[in-house]
Amino acid sequence: MLQRVLPAPEIAPQRLHQAMRYAVLGAGKRVRPLLAFAAGELAHADPARVEIVAAAVEFVHAYSLVHDDLPCMDDDVLRRGRPTCHVQYGEATALLVGDALQSLAFQLLGEYRLADDMRTQLEMVKLLAAASGSRGMAGGQAIDLESTGKHLTMPELEFMHIHKTGALIRAAVLMGARCGNGLDGKGLSQIDLFAKLIGLAFQVVDDVLDAEAPTATLGKTAGKDAKDGKPTYVSALGAGRARTFAQELRQQALAALAAFEGRALRLRQLADFIVLREF
Ligand code: IPE
Ligand code: IPE
Ligand code: MG
Ligand code: MG
Ligand code: MG
Repeated sequence: MLQRVLPAPEIAPQRLHQAMRYAVLGAGKRVRPLLAFAAGELAHADPARVEIVAAAVEFVHAYSLVHDDLPCMDDDVLRRGRPTCHVQYGEATALLVGDALQSLAFQLLGEYRLADDMRTQLEMVKLLAAASGSRGMAGGQAIDLESTGKHLTMPELEFMHIHKTGALIRAAVLMGARCGNGLDGKGLSQIDLFAKLIGLAFQVVDDVLDAEAPTATLGKTAGKDAKDGKPTYVSALGAGRARTFAQELRQQALAALAAFEGRALRLRQLADFIVLREF
């Protein structure tokens, strides 16, 4: 799907399209698309609709990684086991890759029918916009940059993480669910709670892996957060207690799914993967 909706490498401007494909089609875990599919399944959504939503969220995510790695941000040279987009294609192209991927995400949401009524579809567009913007991912990234070299309190750390990483994960789950009609208001608020908890857990585990996993399995430079003086759950609690906190979030997230019983199996499996993963 991602291959198909990305402009072909031979279409002009070739270098930009090649760089966009490089940024998206690497060895990502595709956690956000998988969450969208799992939530969509629970809501009896047509997988062909969820596929569009999943691609849109993954494009915004890939754009956020390209910009996150730029010299003016985390200045990273390795991503998904290969040179970062700006190392491979230059900074100016990497900047445009992010711009173009974000636009492509919203183009998809405008191009395809995603919900039975247009009001719901517009709400989905707004959901992704809010999750990506200054009160979502981009805002979280701003806090991250401002906080480098500083100590954050636990509420400040949580605020940063739920914005820079949690917001997009929450959007993936909610947009997947909104592709179908199978969940009532109560059901939607339960999976929203699940998404918030697992979104925070995702970044807590990312912090732990940065401190504990080797570069070879991570596919990105290990130990970078401590080197750069980033406030993380590891700098605040130590790796052991950060892991325990991620497990607590996982248990709370699973509890939020209790009413769905066996129907939420895939969401449960993803919660397990997010917390137990080694890369
Ligand atoms: C890394 O995200 C950046 C964060 C938001 C923590 P992922 O760990 O999902 O990266 P990929 O997509 O698998 O490369
Ligand atoms: C990134 O957080 C969050 C984004 C919005 C991309 P990190 O800076 O910790 O992500 P990695 O570790 O570089 O993947
Ligand atoms: Mg960062
Ligand atoms: Mg980074
Ligand atoms: Mg990290």
